[in-house]
Amino acid sequence: MLERIKHLTEEIGNLKADLPEEVEQFRLKYLSKKGLVSVLFEDFRDVPAPQKKETGQLLNQLKAAAQQKIEELKASFEVREEEADPGMDLSRPVTNMVPGTRHPLSIVRNEIIRIFAQIGYTVAEGPEIEDDWHNFSALNFPPEHPARDMQDTFFIAKDPEILLRTHTSSVQIRTMETEKPPIRKIFPGRVFRNEAISARAHCIFHQVEGLYVDKNVSFMDLKQTLLYFAREMFGESTEIRLRPSFFPFTEPSGELDVSCNICGGKGCNICKYTGWVEILGCGMVDPAVLENCGIDSKIYTGFAFGMGIERITLLKYQVKDLRLFFENDLRFLRQFTGTI
Ligand code: PHE
Repeated sequence: MLERIKHLTEEIGNLKADLPEEVEQFRLKYLSKKGLVSVLFEDFRDVPAPQKKETGQLLNQLKAAAQQKIEELKASFEVREEEADPGMDLSRPVTNMVPGTRHPLSIVRNEIIRIFAQIGYTVAEGPEIEDDWHNFSALNFPPEHPARDMQDTFFIAKDPEILLRTHTSSVQIRTMETEKPPIRKIFPGRVFRNEAISARAHCIFHQVEGLYVDKNVSFMDLKQTLLYFAREMFGESTEIRLRPSFFPFTEPSGELDVSCNICGGKGCNICKYTGWVEILGCGMVDPAVLENCGIDSKIYTGFAFGMGIERITLLKYQVKDLRLFFENDLRFLRQFTGTI
């Protein structure tokens, strides 16, 4: 009996398994009712009394060792299964990831770029910190002219005067100084005016400027381009109207209204019950501006327009308060999920 216990203790101590099924076979072989260890317990009854104590202890130790060995072998497979199961799906997402969303102003800027790219416009940018020449003088604003007052300016240095650009029209000058016609470009960017912040005004906002200079460019080209833009942006049934206006750098100048896309022209509080909303300023580039940039105004003509991105976004998404664009409130921004 002692011999058999010793032999089995060694045998079980050396057990190795390559597959999980083998562990189950070991359990059946040694520990099931008819298993080799269990059978020893039956034989134990016949052990003579003086040896019972010692044999019993060894027998219990053997059973415990066998159970422990089987558990160990089982556990080793559980770990290995996780590590190396060829059927395991490693691409399974770990947690539910929520992707970010684009800012509504970026969505509309990208849409404007897409619309003009379709008719051959490329994109350029200019600096936000400007000198007097590019923001005012080259654009035909004489010193002391009251038109400068309409754009309440943040000056950051005097003599020479350095300022935060009040409009993207400065990029017209930078472009015409370095490139010769044909020029067909849009200039998106941030602009600054010293305005009190309210639901309808902000000291930082965004514009997209457009410039087309070539031989024989006429007001008809401007009007058709703006009609195309308005319908792409606000829908096929959109109507436009041009009202005469004044800008020092365009002659003639106009302001463009589109039929209110919210009430369809019937009148609502967004269009102040007129059926029309203003979206941009425009006009034929003043010959003096072309000459300031070294372009011969007897050969070339051009048109320019400038629109506020906030304004168009307000209309497109019916946002009631401009300040929402700058507050980074996720409850506002997450409403634009899934839009590119
Ligand atoms: N720069 C003008 C503004 O900010 C808009 C404009 C651009 C007007 C181009 C005419 C031509 O109000």
